Amino acid sequence: MGRKLIIDTDPGVDDAFAIALAALSDDVELLGVTTVFGNVSLPRTTSNALRLLALCGRADVPVAAGADRPLVYPQQSRATHIHGPDGLSGRSSVLPEPARQARRAGAVSLMVELLERADEPVTIAAIGPLTNVALLLAAHPRVRDRISRIVIMGGGLDHGNTTAMAEFNVWSDPEAARRVLVEEDVPCVLVPLDLTLRCAVDSAWLAKLAAAGPVGAALTALTPDYLASYRRVLGFEGMAMHDAVAVAEAIRPGILRTKSFPIEIDCTSGPGRGATLVDRRSEPARAQGEGPVHAGVADVALDTDLDGLRNFVLGRISRS
Ligand code: BDR
Ligand code: CA
Repeated sequence: MGRKLIIDTDPGVDDAFAIALAALSDDVELLGVTTVFGNVSLPRTTSNALRLLALCGRADVPVAAGADRPLVYPQQSRATHIHGPDGLSGRSSVLPEPARQARRAGAVSLMVELLERADEPVTIAAIGPLTNVALLLAAHPRVRDRISRIVIMGGGLDHGNTTAMAEFNVWSDPEAARRVLVEEDVPCVLVPLDLTLRCAVDSAWLAKLAAAGPVGAALTALTPDYLASYRRVLGFEGMAMHDAVAVAEAIRPGILRTKSFPIEIDCTSGPGRGATLVDRRSEPARAQGEGPVHAGVADVALDTDLDGLRNFVLGRISRS
């Protein structure tokens, strides 16, 4: 069956593509989907995840809802101006009704159950704020060695998308991101904006997906508000599929080219709050320079075969 995977998500249009990518890939075993606040409220992200799995014919995948807010400070705003009022361009009702309910026990309990039951270490793809993953690692340190890697869509090295320096997932809960990326000793792959924006897809790619079958048509139907927002950012008719880039790496390790760097998360209350400080100085420059005083280490995804990646995602989510 292949690699075992848990997705922690806040759907979200690009989350929708990422969930479909994993749900329709037969070389990965999607053990569960856990939801977190983020692009929209937790009840919305949860119902969107359930509907997306129903669309993909994967009602067998258990879903559980997790954190409805950040660990410490309130989330300043959702991303409805990008993903639409319901997180799916106002079109979530084109998706099938959820085929089952979310598990009562909640996201952290489901993750613990799935990690402990698995006969090999599991990959976690974290494509929303990192609150659930931070809570998991804080409350259940024994599961650390049940996790092979945490592949995180988040951060921006050169710039953010929510503030000048902060990317949305990290900005939504910087303390959680710091717990996972800096405080914990679990292998992390960070897939930042610097790469996900380069992997943006255009209208020709979306037209191929729409023509591929009912799942492709339904996913494409979720994009109007998101496309309108990205048209302004990218300057062409297309969209970033941030989260699907991270899930591609979770499914096929090495599809993205990574490099290991010290990393810190700005948890101050100043203008840098939520920034991912990736120390790209050379070893000698770092050795003769200052700090960072305390930093984790992450494998940061900086490059890929852009068309190969787009074809990989298109080929997989066209299966239905
Ligand atoms: C990230 O923020 C969310 O809006 C997207 O779903 C993605 O996970 C991109 O910054
Ligand atoms: Ca997301």
